[in-house]
Amino acid sequence: MSLDTTLINRQRMPVDDAAELWLFGYGSLIWKAGFAYLERRPAHIEGWARRFWQGSHDHRGTPEAPGRVATLIRQPGALCHGMAYRIAGDVLHGLDIREKNGYLRETTLMHFADGSHAEGLLYLATEDNAAFLGDAPLESMARQIAAAHGPSGANRDYLLNLATALEDLGAEDEHVAALAKRVQHIKA
Ligand code: BEZ
Repeated sequence: MSLDTTLINRQRMPVDDAAELWLFGYGSLIWKAGFAYLERRPAHIEGWARRFWQGSHDHRGTPEAPGRVATLIRQPGALCHGMAYRIAGDVLHGLDIREKNGYLRETTLMHFADGSHAEGLLYLATEDNAAFLGDAPLESMARQIAAAHGPSGANRDYLLNLATALEDLGAEDEHVAALAKRVQHIKA
């Protein structure tokens, strides 16, 4: 099941092609930008927690066997570490298509390690989108991730790349670490 959010994103938040803006990545964007950027800086956002609750029917799974990828849920007091990219507005054309399976652009305040902050965009999949899977027991999420494959590759690689990238950033994420630990023990 999928909902193409490409047009919705363009209509509700038009951005000039020549504008410069910050984009906060908390999933695959941390280790794989795949677009041109002007600057890249580790950052975190407050009040949000990363969860593998979004279904992936088009990248890390299929409509018959969806994978699980990251989205964010509101959680007072939580910090979500990721990567901020300063980009030109026209980069959003490609990103809107790449993240079209239920992700809407939202604005956020990003905090940098030097104490400064900036407004930025992120892609968020909320529970009302058709591809949302929500919470499940850890073992069941791990088995789904270990088994799923899609046009962008194995779902397990998405999870393990994210876990490694977060470790490299020195960022703690109990949800990602617990899933990665479990998935590593499930045969590919
Ligand atoms: C991210 O890395 O921030 C991201 C990537 C795909 C969809 C949503 C978010």
